[in-house]
Amino acid sequence: LLGDITRKPSRSRGTGRAVANIALCKYWGKRQLELNLPRTSSLSISLDPLGSETTLGLSDLPGDQIRLNGREMPPDDPFSRRLSRFLDLFRPAETAGFVVETHNTIPTAAGLASSASGFAALVLALDDLFQWNSTPRTLSILARLGSGSAARSIVSGFVEWHAGTHDDGLDSFAESLTDTWPGLCIGLIEVDTRPKPVSSRQAMTDTVNTSFLYSSWPQQVDSDLAALKTAIRQRNFDQLGRVAEHNALSMHATMISAWPPILYWSPETIRTLHTIWRLRQEGVPVYVTMDAGPNIKLLFLEDTAPMIREKFPKVRIITPFAPPDPDTL
Ligand code: PMV
Repeated sequence: LLGDITRKPSRSRGTGRAVANIALCKYWGKRQLELNLPRTSSLSISLDPLGSETTLGLSDLPGDQIRLNGREMPPDDPFSRRLSRFLDLFRPAETAGFVVETHNTIPTAAGLASSASGFAALVLALDDLFQWNSTPRTLSILARLGSGSAARSIVSGFVEWHAGTHDDGLDSFAESLTDTWPGLCIGLIEVDTRPKPVSSRQAMTDTVNTSFLYSSWPQQVDSDLAALKTAIRQRNFDQLGRVAEHNALSMHATMISAWPPILYWSPETIRTLHTIWRLRQEGVPVYVTMDAGPNIKLLFLEDTAPMIREKFPKVRIITPFAPPDPDTL
């Protein structure tokens, strides 16, 4: 794939925009490290309008110039290093530098999937710069090389990333399900937006290598994926919430049982979990999912929104399938 694409720019700048996503059935564990090939398939929902917008061009100066949210990033910053390493795949000449300007509407590296929309937006900007006119499948494969979950940010809505079986990864890509769910809400509760102490890449590797619980993970994913797809098709919210929460907590259980142990939760994470479980006992249909970080995402339906706002004043509510607000068009 990388051998077939042109690296000759067709215009001076390219732009790409991609939405963040949160997995309802998580991608956790790689079968191949370099190509970010996952051990299992996964399923996410996009978090419109949160995401990333990237513009990029080429310069004759060596080294990349990278700006994140208006701030010039030092070349030795981990963010710049990761981006430049990825851009090496697309450099027209070894001496060519990219000028990259990227804006995230989500905190970077806070377990809110900014790398997913970030790499997806970057690939879309490259597609625009070089005028590849690639299919979403190809773009998903390319975005995956930057960050696994970025494969799911090329498209939107409910998205399934097929694990694939080929060594070259050409059958490991994401695509949208046709189903929508207008009343579905995601509530973001930011517990801690500082960069996480252990990257998800490191955490996955340690988990796969040392956790005895990990051996049951692929089996759980098989069952959870099927149950989630049925729940989405039938708009069965309790099934969707139950399966997503069980899946997220099981992923965390595999990390806690790794060595050295990985525990992303803070005391506030645990307090919030207890509040949610108490609300559920009182009959409020709300569930939770979490990525590799301390932050919490609530799953609930539109009619529960007033209650969620009251209980969690700092919640940010996302409605991925709601019709766009005419005022923002
Ligand atoms: O894309 P990565 O390498 O940051 O991994 C993401 C892993 C999780 O967010 C924890 C799960 C997922 O499916 O997004």
